[in-house]
Amino acid sequence: MSKIDEVKSRLDIVDIVSDYVELRKSGRNYSGLCPFHSDTEPSFVVFPETQGWHCFGCGEGGDVFTFIMKREGLTFGEALRLLARRAGVELKPLTEEQKKAAAQRERLQRIMSAAAEYYHQLLHSSTGEEARAYIQRRGLTEETVERFQLGYAPDQWEALKGHLLGQGYTLDNLVAAGIVVKRKEGTGGYDRFRHRLMIPIRLPQVGEKRGQVIAFGGRVLREEDVPKYLNSPQTPLFDKSATLFGLDRAQEAIRRRDQAVIVEGYMDVLQAHQHGFTNVVASMGTSLTEDQLRSLTRLTTNLVLALDADTAGTRAILRGLEVARGALDRRVTPVITPQGLVRYEGRLEIALHITILPQGKDPDDVIRADTDHWRRLIEEALPVLDYYFQALTADIDFSDPKGKVEAVRRLGPILSEIKNQVERTHYLQRLARMVRVDERALARQISETRPRHRRVRKPPSPEEEPTEATVSGRFGMQEHCLACLAGDPSLLEWLNEQLVKIEVPPLALADFIPSGRGGRVENEQIFQALLQVNRSSESRPDADMLRETLDPLLHDYLGWLLEMNSFYDDLPPDKLREDLLVTALRLREESLRARLTQLHFLHLDAQAEGQQDVIIKTGKTIDRLEEELRDVQRAFSRRFSLGRQRLEHALGL
Ligand code: UTP
Ligand code: MN
Repeated sequence: MSKIDEVKSRLDIVDIVSDYVELRKSGRNYSGLCPFHSDTEPSFVVFPETQGWHCFGCGEGGDVFTFIMKREGLTFGEALRLLARRAGVELKPLTEEQKKAAAQRERLQRIMSAAAEYYHQLLHSSTGEEARAYIQRRGLTEETVERFQLGYAPDQWEALKGHLLGQGYTLDNLVAAGIVVKRKEGTGGYDRFRHRLMIPIRLPQVGEKRGQVIAFGGRVLREEDVPKYLNSPQTPLFDKSATLFGLDRAQEAIRRRDQAVIVEGYMDVLQAHQHGFTNVVASMGTSLTEDQLRSLTRLTTNLVLALDADTAGTRAILRGLEVARGALDRRVTPVITPQGLVRYEGRLEIALHITILPQGKDPDDVIRADTDHWRRLIEEALPVLDYYFQALTADIDFSDPKGKVEAVRRLGPILSEIKNQVERTHYLQRLARMVRVDERALARQISETRPRHRRVRKPPSPEEEPTEATVSGRFGMQEHCLACLAGDPSLLEWLNEQLVKIEVPPLALADFIPSGRGGRVENEQIFQALLQVNRSSESRPDADMLRETLDPLLHDYLGWLLEMNSFYDDLPPDKLREDLLVTALRLREESLRARLTQLHFLHLDAQAEGQQDVIIKTGKTIDRLEEELRDVQRAFSRRFSLGRQRLEHALGL
């Protein structure tokens, strides 16, 4: 049993979810108010039998891991570790070195909390007078000061150091925490932050626990002092490029509103939160990094970047967009369609919008002057590609042929990287209209200049659950069918013709839903690629073309399917085809049954609860699917009457 399975088997999802959601027994399941959207009637359901959950309001669903990941904003590895601790499963014993590092982090964290506490107290003491006046000038309220635990670093060289040494911390640790600077000569050290307004930077909070302080930003109180902001250095706790200021206070709102707004500065965040815009975080002046993006996409896929009008800001963000483009990947998520069909859909990881601030203003200024203006700016943010079109063509003269060439040169590489076909076509048409060139000619030209790079993926860190190096495990009907088709993708066309002849709809993605234990999400991807090569290629599609359309991550899996396919080499072609048709029909039968089972339970629950609209909706879908199932069975027996059992036996099914 894998560690993941072990953790899963020792926990009950009902227990875990109950920590966050008040659950009521309803039929064989439990229901409650969904923690992921603002729910008025309980549409969140936990299924003890399958150890899964699903919300019929927002469509989210998954298992105990995805629940914790979403609820706590954790990566899979983090959720696994959290649940493993709870289940009493030891993942991997820590090495001596790791234990030491963990102990050190804990010490540094205590130091940072103590420092924040100290600065905060001083702000309220008589020493903090100038800082308090500054806070007032910036229009920050007492509530904001408390909420963000703002503080004051006194105008002395050894105040904090003395205070913390007095509490028993060592000089080395104060230096390691980044709040004391070691003297170049001799021994001893001095406070890094002096006479500054202190802004604690925290980790996201976990559960009810407030986010840990990991760093400080310190602002001068007098405009003539430099640097304007002094930040903590890189420490074992603080990695600036992976941190967003304000995320601890914003995570709840980001999740609730399903949107995050990213600004540049500390003050922008403080002011936004003070005015009720609590889904705002800051990148702290630098361009957005992939790590920062990732910490947001755990909470939402809708991001709005609020950019300074000045060119530096625009340039910084264009760099940020490079990163964002890399993250414009597809993620597979289970979705329940209105027809009650559970399917796994590829979803764009990020919907990025850009809003440009008025010249010379930052969000702090805008919000203080006019909150409605800020609200409008966020609402009217442009999708990133529209922004590109606008920003990159603003200075181009389209009546000049040179201008047209330049527009294609600038936008071409961006368009060629849009992975979504529909989206790409949309923007291609738009560019074609702008330069008055035939769309197909343009498409050809752009694909010729297309960079042929592969994205480099980070290898999983040793702490992450190891991924299986080679494919193993079940070889069921889905796999069997895909193995046949992978060897000769053009067979799909033949197969679908046969199905239609016997009045059964062609194979569809729904037939490759990962079902039951060991169900594979990969299968859907392979099938999708099969559809694609059949649709797009002019010549007869082969296994190589299939490989090219697939994400490299799936190459091993495809290789395995092809290896399995080689076992059919000895089979005469007509036998193979016959077998494929049988498999397809059984696959359809299986997927219809799986969908029906799910719907039946929902129907029963709805009856028990007296939810009329759900009863009607599920009832209709059940009728339709049952009819389809009967059609399949009829077709099956017509085509393979008598011979059916013998044939299946011969094929070893
Ligand atoms: P800004 O100078 O735009 O900051 O820098 P701001 O928040 O609007 O500052 P105020 O309104 O004058 O107080 C944006 C962000 O860049 C980082 C800080 O995170 C700041 O909030 N920064 C800026 C630094 O780290 N160091 C600096 O010297 C300046
Ligand atoms: Mn400012």
